[in-house]
Formats: sequence, C-alpha cells, structure tokens
Amino acid sequence: MKAAQIQSYGGSEVIEINSDTSKPEIKNEQILVEVDSASLNPIDYKVRLGYLKEMVPLNFPSTLGGDFAGVIQEVAPDVTDFKTGDLVFGQAIVLNGGSGSLAEFAAANIKNIALKPQTLDFIQAAGLPLVGTSALQAIEEHLKVSKDQKILIHGGAGGIGSIAIQLAKMQGAYVITTVSKDQIDFVKQLGADEIIDYKSQDFSEIVKDLDGVFDTVGGDVANKSLDVLKKGGIFVSMVAQIPPEQALQKGVTAISQNTSTTSKKLERLAELIDSGKIKVLIDKVFSLEQVKEAFDYLEHSHPKGKVVVKIKSEHSRDSSTDSQ
Ligand SMILES: NC(=O)c1ccc[n+]([C@@H]2O[C@H](COP(=O)([O-])OP(=O)(O)OC[C@H]3O[C@@H](n4cnc5c(N)ncnc54)[C@H](OP(=O)(O)O)[C@@H]3O)[C@@H](O)[C@H]2O)c1
Repeated sequence: MKAAQIQSYGGSEVIEINSDTSKPEIKNEQILVEVDSASLNPIDYKVRLGYLKEMVPLNFPSTLGGDFAGVIQEVAPDVTDFKTGDLVFGQAIVLNGGSGSLAEFAAANIKNIALKPQTLDFIQAAGLPLVGTSALQAIEEHLKVSKDQKILIHGGAGGIGSIAIQLAKMQGAYVITTVSKDQIDFVKQLGADEIIDYKSQDFSEIVKDLDGVFDTVGGDVANKSLDVLKKGGIFVSMVAQIPPEQALQKGVTAISQNTSTTSKKLERLAELIDSGKIKVLIDKVFSLEQVKEAFDYLEHSHPKGKVVVKIKSEHSRDSSTDSQ
C-alpha cells in the first residue's frame, strides 16, 4: 500500500511516498481502516520535526498523520462495537499506538474512533477528530461555558478555535476572539461577537473581567491572558503550561489541556454535526502525492479551517476489492 513516511526527522523534504509498504497488522482492541481522507494538525509537523522525540521516539520508517475518516476493513477478534464495513472517523497517530493515517490503510484503537457523522462526507469528517475533541474538552469539560458568560478564544480562525467559537456560541456565551485581519469575516460567520486583530491590537488592553479564556496560541498570549480574567475565572491552554501557583496568586485557575480523542467525544461531535449545531470548515484538499505541499500549506499559509489529504481516489474506490 501507499503511505507518506519519514526515515528521519526534518522539514517537509524528508517526507517520502512509499508504494510498497505493508498493510499494518492490528492488535487487540484495534481496527484496520481503509483511509478515505486524512487531515493535518500542527502535531503532525511537530512529530516530523522531532519536537517530541525525547518523549516518544519514532521507529523509522514511520507513517505520518493522525486524523482520518474511512471504512473498516477488519476488526480484532476482541472487538464487538464495530464491524467490517462501518464508516468511521477518529485518530490513528503513531504516538497513541496507531499506525499513522497518511496511508491507504491504518490501524487505530477502538477507543479513538466512532461512527462517522452521517451528514458529512469523508473529507469533512477527516477534518474533525483532533480539533473537534480538543474544542469540546476545553469548552464543555474545563471551561463549562454557559449562557451569560464572556469568553475569549485565542486563534479563532484555527482548526480548534473555529470549532470552539461555535461550541461557545451554542451555549449562549458572549464570544470574543483574536485573529489576524484577513480572518475577520471568517470568524464573524462563525458567530464571534467581538473580534480583535492580534497583529495591530493588544487584547489585554481591550478586554477584562472575563469568565474564561481558551488559548490555542501559547507564549506571551498565555501569560497576559491571566490578567483579563475575573477572580475565579478559568484559563485553558492547548500549548502553555502555567504553574498553578502563578494562577493562584491572581485568583484564577489555569489548566494545561492534553486532549484525549475518545469515542465518547467523537460521538458527541457527530451528534452536534448531524443536528446542524456545528460545522467543520475545510480550507483546502490535497492528494496523497501532494502531501509535502499540504504540510507546507498548513505550516506557512495561515489556513482558515482544515487542510485535508484525500487518499482514496475515485478510481481506487471503483476497484477497491482489487487493491487489497
Ligand atoms: N495539548 C494537546 O493535547 C493539543 C491537541 C491538539 C492541538 N494542540 C496544539 O494547539 C495549537 C492549535 O492547534 P490548531 O489545530 O488550532 O492550529 P492551527 O489550525 O494552526 O490554528 C492556530 C491559529 O492561531 C492563530 N494565531 C497565531 N498566533 C496568534 C496570536 N498571537 N494571537 C491570536 N491568534 C494567533 C493562527 O492565526 P494566523 O494563521 O493568522 O497566524 C491560527 O489561526 C497547536 O500548537 C497544536 O499543536 C495541542
């Protein structure tokens, strides 16, 4: 099968499309999925660059990618919740014990998948797993956003931010978001009530006494965010690690989120999508052969929404039984 792999850490130039890779073997509590589409997340280039190599060293060659949507081809003997032919979406990143989603077939843990939302095609569904579960965990579990609250979401045009705005609006909150100038119309359409251009304005001089801040950016943005919360307010970051004592001194709570892409969260996302409460925004779709361009686009072109790699071509769909 074809897979986008790396033999060493580095820039997008280290990515190879290998056509003679073996299909992954599944272990207990795993499924083998024929990947239709896979979306890219910043974690995928951080892994490729070797930023996580001390924590989780890769065995080379290693297949890139995590998020996917596709069709189950095989289930491990102990799997009872899913069956061959089910249309699913989820995570298959190597760091979590998957085999990597930028390939024609991937092994994924059943705890990281769910049935695909019925109203989405594979491309859209592939855009949802990591950003959707991250936004859900922050907005519903940590911030517990509710009506009458004022919430600031940093990076509102990004993958996570764009879902977080919709989830916070769904709860009836007043949503302020930081984006760059050319993303203003995009976040307005998502329902943001107040928009701050982070390149020309300093949010810490504009907002105060907030109930919650959701940070998808980190660095200075995180440190300054503690000062715009009211006493008892909650700060959640996807990136920064604020020492609890620093938050305590300011009378707020700081949470450093580690997203868990569970079946339960994926099922909730599917419900929200199918009932029309939230939507997933796709910026651009690439083919597997264009995977280097897809990574470069994600890293350098400021996408509005998700970057997706369509792996299964219409030709291979017609002859899917031959290709196995
Ligand atoms: N901890 C975890 O478990 C976990 C899980 C998932 C993701 N993450 C991390 O969370 C971060 C966000 O992920 P994502 O998928 O949403 O990334 P993304 O799609 O690249 O979005 C990031 C957004 O931040 C914006 N931005 C950059 N600098 C900013 C600033 N100073 N102020 C306001 N906005 C700014 C970018 O806008 P421009 O395009 O205008 O620069 C972009 O829209 C990544 O670092 C990712 O690795 C962590």
